[in-house]
Amino acid sequence: MCGILGTVIHEGSEPLRSTLIGGLRAVEYRGYDSSGVAVLGSDGVMLSKRAGKISVLEDYLGEEPLVGSVGLGHTRWATHGEPNDVNSHPHQDNHETITLVHNGIIENYSELKLGLIAKGIHFHSETDTEVVANLIGYLYENEYPGNLIDAVRHACRQLKGSFSLVIMARDNPRMLIGVRQQMPLLVGHGKHASYLGSDVTAFLSMTRDVTYLEDGEMAVLDHDTVRFIDIATGKQIEKKRERVDWDIEQAQKGGFDTFMLKEIHEQPQVLRQMLERYLPSPAEPVYLPGLDEFFEDHDTRLISLVGCGTAWHACKVGRYVLEGLAKIPCRVEYAHEAQYHFAPIDDSAVTIAISQSGETADTLGAVKAQKALGSRSIAICNVVGSSLTRIADFTLYTTAGPEISVASTKAFTCQLTMLYLMGLWLAERNGSLDPDELRRLKAELIAIPDKMAAILHSKKQIDRLARVYRQVNHMYFLGRGLSYPVAMEGALKLKEISYVHAEGYAGGEMKHGAIALIEPGFPSCILAPQSPLLEKMVANMEEILARKGEVMVLTNNPDRFSQYDVHVFSFPDCPQLYSPLLMSLPLQLFAYYSAMLRGCDIDQPRNLAKSVVVE
Ligand code: F6R
Repeated sequence: MCGILGTVIHEGSEPLRSTLIGGLRAVEYRGYDSSGVAVLGSDGVMLSKRAGKISVLEDYLGEEPLVGSVGLGHTRWATHGEPNDVNSHPHQDNHETITLVHNGIIENYSELKLGLIAKGIHFHSETDTEVVANLIGYLYENEYPGNLIDAVRHACRQLKGSFSLVIMARDNPRMLIGVRQQMPLLVGHGKHASYLGSDVTAFLSMTRDVTYLEDGEMAVLDHDTVRFIDIATGKQIEKKRERVDWDIEQAQKGGFDTFMLKEIHEQPQVLRQMLERYLPSPAEPVYLPGLDEFFEDHDTRLISLVGCGTAWHACKVGRYVLEGLAKIPCRVEYAHEAQYHFAPIDDSAVTIAISQSGETADTLGAVKAQKALGSRSIAICNVVGSSLTRIADFTLYTTAGPEISVASTKAFTCQLTMLYLMGLWLAERNGSLDPDELRRLKAELIAIPDKMAAILHSKKQIDRLARVYRQVNHMYFLGRGLSYPVAMEGALKLKEISYVHAEGYAGGEMKHGAIALIEPGFPSCILAPQSPLLEKMVANMEEILARKGEVMVLTNNPDRFSQYDVHVFSFPDCPQLYSPLLMSLPLQLFAYYSAMLRGCDIDQPRNLAKSVVVE
């Protein structure tokens, strides 16, 4: 997730600083670990890039106005290589002919890089992007001299993965090329300049007239004309202009009212990307580079999962997943408990610390404490280069992209997905699962993002349920097995953004005390995925109904509930193992709509902060 933009002035040159820096600020929410700009002026290309926020780049630029005819900019969310000055975009080829910015991941970059090294090309960064710059540069110089369009087209045909690119050439001071392949890119048609952006926000203060690129399409901005070309055939295509009627603030949230709603909606896409990266096909092994070396010669006898809040709920799901798939005993502790409670642990253990931010003080403390006792550590983390990734022995990145809303949503489902991937990876390595079953589970995991998208299409039903429960002050969320931590997460979401008191309970625990609160009208949400425990959840529900409690059910077996006077939200069929992924979405939406109805500040709930860096 990076923000990119580019601009071509139709005639002459002008200071591009405010266009580029202003545009980058508007897409900063997409990534903010480093940024850079490049302009093509009378003295050639001037390139400036810096690790850190855009303000660091601004300080570095000083009073420089960035005069040029063509310019591009990038704000990065690192994927390949840590966020430092060298890995920041823009990148150039060896001869500094091509300058480009990139959003996405080039999956076959290592292979392409080896081919380019064999041709005598040197690399300075750890990025996949520098490979693209050199590939285009090589083709432009050797195979398509003077034809930037064909050089870019033929380079793109060699790239695998998801990417959008904005490219300029030193000897072509009036041309900018944009390509799109599974990463957003659109053209802005201004009066005196044309634009390319990963988001309309990148150039919204200049123009609202846009053309959206589709996958496999290229836009060629040349003086005041814009042409669209099919990358595969090279043929020109006609595309329509559209007028955007967003204001800047809305657009920064991608057109959603809040970052939380936007992030809820991003889940199918981020999971799809994550799976494309780590599990491209059910026929292939799960691809978690480096994990082999981590586990080599390690006789792992215990996995200790630690985290806080939502991440702790992911740990709880992770226990069922890793014990079920990899057959390795697991224990789960709150990180703040684990750091002071020295439960027996030694060098036969692996600590898995889960954190979106990678900066949670309690989680850092738990990892340090368990490392001191001999345990090796893995971070499951969303933020590249964060403290947790620096102290852990190994990191698995969740690639959820920046999560801005305080209430965690997409980071949670990405954490679960990484635990599933790790479970499948360990099962394959340890031979703890029948190969046919393993393959089936991989295929079912790959199918999850589409099922999530289907749930989002039914969000109005959840809105209606939130209206039914708009007056309540308390609510139970009940689940068993894998659904128990999901029930706790559903309760936490409702609590933190709508301020309704909610408790997540294990269904079997109800009758040991909590049932005392059930009275006519007391609401409970029953998590009842199709599983061997379904009938036990039906029994819990009956106990509540017998006391005239109100019940809402999440299930993928709605027929089982048709005879009851309950509200049912039905989600798509899936193996029980993956039901936490699908049940999380309606629970997030329920909390969201409940908070909206109560007029709460969704993205910045009271008393909370996104990153809890104190104990
Ligand atoms: C809840 C939430 C918090 C965090 C917790 C850990 O929506 O966001 O409970 O999950 O503070 O934060 P990270 O994952 O950054 O360690």
